[in-house]
Amino acid sequence: MSSRITIGTPLSPSAIKVMLLGSGELGKEVIIALQRLGVETIAVDRYPDAPGHQVAHRAHVINMADGVALRALIEQERPHIIVPEIEAIATAMLVEIEREGLARVIPTARAAQLTMHREGIRRLAAETLGLPTSPYKFADSLEELRAAIDVVGYPCVIKPVMSSSGKGQSKVDNADEVEAAWNYAASGSRVNQGRVIVEGFVAFDYEITQLTVRAVGNNGEIETHFCEPIGHVQVHGDYVESWQPQAMPPLALQRSRDIAKKVTDDLGGLGIFGVELFIKGDEVWFSEVSPRPHDTGMVTMCSQVQSEFELHARAILGLPVNTTLRAPGASAVIYGQLEAQGIAFTGVDEALRVPQSDLRLFGKPESFKKRRMGVALANGKDTDEARERAKLAASKVVPIKRR
Ligand SMILES: Nc1ncnc2c1ncn2[C@@H]1O[C@H](COP(=O)(O)OP(=O)(O)OP(=O)(O)O)[C@@H](O)[C@H]1O
Ligand SMILES: [Mg+2]
Repeated sequence: MSSRITIGTPLSPSAIKVMLLGSGELGKEVIIALQRLGVETIAVDRYPDAPGHQVAHRAHVINMADGVALRALIEQERPHIIVPEIEAIATAMLVEIEREGLARVIPTARAAQLTMHREGIRRLAAETLGLPTSPYKFADSLEELRAAIDVVGYPCVIKPVMSSSGKGQSKVDNADEVEAAWNYAASGSRVNQGRVIVEGFVAFDYEITQLTVRAVGNNGEIETHFCEPIGHVQVHGDYVESWQPQAMPPLALQRSRDIAKKVTDDLGGLGIFGVELFIKGDEVWFSEVSPRPHDTGMVTMCSQVQSEFELHARAILGLPVNTTLRAPGASAVIYGQLEAQGIAFTGVDEALRVPQSDLRLFGKPESFKKRRMGVALANGKDTDEARERAKLAASKVVPIKRR
């Protein structure tokens, strides 16, 4: 078979140019993976010196939710491929840009648009595709929220329709807690729309991320590849620890992959997806999907032959992928623990003395108490050992104010 793919030389007229919209720790790793394949990279974020800015060929600071500013930058840089790395983007402009053929949007502009809004993806999954989800309703006011909960029941989870990392999200056990949850959702909403989803609380045994890759196969058609399931622990809707593989009964795994296949087939395009699922026995619920690498998937930097970032880079370039597990692994988040600019980390040497451990320090210019500043990775003979090592390594790293 003769190859249709060519990769040029960065910073020359033959370069393949990829623009990352969002250049945090996940975007940074995608950029590194692309650069290793000889791609020219352009990192965009809303603040200067974001992690991905520090490793890309060029860096830009714009408000990506501003469609006019976004278009101007795309016309200036003329990337071949645009990779949305966060949700808060003017996705309507991406739809236009894709339609005009100005650039290819990963995986598709429609996928970016549908998944930035909980209503878009939930209605697609539950109503169009018929996937099992928690019971849910949407509400635009406190009164509507109370009426919605009358249908969904207690306990339930209330979330702004546009938010991520658990922002504005709370679990509600009784009527006394509803007003506080409404106010909290309004404060955590990314664009202060005041619309929420209320979901019935799923009393799952555990939750997983099913990383799913759509890549070009040997015969030129798009094939779906599955990574081993990733288990994780969330605190207040934000991930603190993950491991791979999560042991699962075969039926639950099969159902998880059937769900992942259905939703990623519909979203289409090329690249990796993080399909979030709740599991109880053999029962599986679809929760949500990211059409991009997933934060819980950082574990794959030590547990897979190709990390989720390498898989994404290869898939979007039309190259073959390998989702094989290398060894059981785990990740544990390192938080800022203090509010300051330009912090330092002590104990890095001790962390790296933990057997089979590794670290990523993201290089974020500003630390907040609960900001994710780094991650510890570790392998072990099984995920229990890997988790212990990753947590131990993370605990050795202590952020301090610059002296
Ligand atoms: N209906 C539910 N029942 C039980 N737990 C839930 C439910 N919805 C959310 N959770 C818990 O809260 C976590 C975060 O929820 P969700 O993924 O919807 O929020 P998010 O803000 O999009 O988070 P992220 O951006 O980090 O994925 C879930 O991983 C799960 O642990
Ligand atoms: Mg989530």
